Amino acid sequence: MEKHQAEQEMDALRKELEDYGYHYYVLDAPIVPDSEYDKLLNRLLELEGQFPELITEDSPTVRIGGEPLSAFKKVAHRVPMMSLGNAFSAQDLRDFDRRVRQNVGDEVAYVCELKFDGLAVSLTYEEGRFVRGATRGDGTTGEDITHNLKTIPAIPLRLKENVMLEVRGEAYMPKHSFETLNAAKEEAGEEKFANPRNAAAGSLRQLDPKIAAKRNLSLFVYSIGELTGKNMDTHYKGLMYLDELGFKVNKEATRCESMDDVIAYTERWVEKRHELPYEIDGVVIKVDSLAMHERLGFTAKFPRWATAYKFPAEEVVTVLREIELNVGRTGVVTPTALLDPVLVAGTTVRRASLHNEDLIREKDVKLGDTVVVKKAGDIIPEVVSVLTEKRTGDEVDFAMPTHCPECDSQLERLEGEVALRCLNPKCPAQIREGLIHFVSRNAMNIDGLGEKVISQLFAHELIADVADLYSLKREDLLELERMGEKSVDNLLTAIAVSKENSLERLLFGLGIRFVGAKAARTLAEQFETMEALQEASEEDLLAVNEIGEKMAASIVAYYAKPEVRTLLAELRSAGVSMEFKGKQPRESEQVDSFFTGKTVVLTGKLSELTRNEAQERIEALGGTVTGSVSKKTDLVVAGEDAGSKQKKAETLGIELWNEAKFIEELEKA
Ligand code: IVH
Repeated sequence: MEKHQAEQEMDALRKELEDYGYHYYVLDAPIVPDSEYDKLLNRLLELEGQFPELITEDSPTVRIGGEPLSAFKKVAHRVPMMSLGNAFSAQDLRDFDRRVRQNVGDEVAYVCELKFDGLAVSLTYEEGRFVRGATRGDGTTGEDITHNLKTIPAIPLRLKENVMLEVRGEAYMPKHSFETLNAAKEEAGEEKFANPRNAAAGSLRQLDPKIAAKRNLSLFVYSIGELTGKNMDTHYKGLMYLDELGFKVNKEATRCESMDDVIAYTERWVEKRHELPYEIDGVVIKVDSLAMHERLGFTAKFPRWATAYKFPAEEVVTVLREIELNVGRTGVVTPTALLDPVLVAGTTVRRASLHNEDLIREKDVKLGDTVVVKKAGDIIPEVVSVLTEKRTGDEVDFAMPTHCPECDSQLERLEGEVALRCLNPKCPAQIREGLIHFVSRNAMNIDGLGEKVISQLFAHELIADVADLYSLKREDLLELERMGEKSVDNLLTAIAVSKENSLERLLFGLGIRFVGAKAARTLAEQFETMEALQEASEEDLLAVNEIGEKMAASIVAYYAKPEVRTLLAELRSAGVSMEFKGKQPRESEQVDSFFTGKTVVLTGKLSELTRNEAQERIEALGGTVTGSVSKKTDLVVAGEDAGSKQKKAETLGIELWNEAKFIEELEKA
């Protein structure tokens, strides 16, 4: 084919694909079957393969995801990306309304929008072309994630007018995509995402755009940051204009003439939120007139012309039928309530955490009780309280067992602990949980060994301890349920690759009490080989910065056990490396920062990064993250809805940061 012919055909294909994509992803109203779209896209890909010089930057084929980046670039936001003040009740909303009226008089109209639970992004268009997309970051500087945002089909690559525009919106993962993704992760034995927000943020913080491309993300735009050559007098008209330009604007945005109407809107969505195919966590209320925005201005942190009404954490009532006991890796026995299935926050809940025996007693939980269950973002919801007035007399007292539900050895309560423990090192439950830990991402990182596969390996008596993983046979694995040739080969490769891991992964994976991932790294760095560590005395260990008495004693006690010596000999003869392989690049780049040597507690909900990401960043900068606030805590980072930990920090006079300040310091570091 001649080049000019190809050029014409490619141009026509792009226009057609863009239009079909717009109807499908922006308007939610497809006009051709998927097969037709795929056919045209494949044809365009074929032509782009033949004539690479004719590929354009806004070709629909970029949705597939291009080459990975080596690092994220920083982007300064020309107009800061602020966050919003919160309202938790109708009274808070009336107070907000009163403050607005005091400033601008009584003729105020509001726009109510859904508050999408995803990741805030900024999109920049020059002459109508999408040129740059960034995260919010600390509000002043974000990260350039253009490569990932281009894969989101709801983001137009070219607008219907050739304008200069910076627009803000929320990238999110629809509920059904989230469920499919987590089901696949579970199948593959990978860690699941806690909620669609983390899944969306995690997908967009990847260097490789092919990952985001597969994640079915979408985006609603909700405000204009900057627009040249066009005057708009209300926010609502701005939304309509964005719609005309080809953006996906949420259809539920409503103009309200009074605060009563605003409150009615929030009440309606508390009920209706679960009918939506995406998650929302509240309603955003904005003054409509842009002249009033000017007059109202900003506080130090928030605009005075908008607020976010947050939905209460959802609570439902159901019946607790049974209490199940699970023995964890360290022998701790945790009670979990088995409930009559009930719909909470869009998913069916059958189990809820009861934490420990003290809590069961404190809340006076009996089998058969009617209980209130709360879901606060986590996968396993918790029992909040018992509705004692619903008791019939048929409820049965629950007593924690005296013996391990798995191996029947006597349970003990160690001094100063609320938890009951099984101390039998041969307890099958502990071994199984220990294996799950051994293969997990921060330990030996063996992909393809999820809980289900491990349980099967146990049931078939193919493994009894972690060393047995290294003598698994192809033919044995092929016998297992849902293990095809390909998964078996992948698994065997992953196991073989793990033999080359640096010492710290093995140390962490062994699950020595009190030795977390960070301590394992310190130990590996200091002692360099397993033998050296094995021979270390308590004094040798205490000489290492960051190793305290409890940990030193636990390490010495661990290596003194004959079964540990046998296990290590088995691992060694299987070819598992027991040497420190040098600093990880991230660490060698490590510089002294504010976080170096500090103990940090994270609490409340962070919106810009997940808890895990925050922890990784702090640890990479030499800090330690712990779960509870004490005098030893140097810093508490309080996200939204932070509760008792924030109060405790205030009481103890510990430095307290909000998320914006935290991100600012991370970026500085
Ligand atoms: S407007 C200055 N509208 O909520 C006001 N924000 O704390 C800018 N969000 O980080 C925000 N849905 O990511 C606005 N319809 C909506 C929103 C929305 C979700 C998020 C946004 C921001 C946070 C506000």
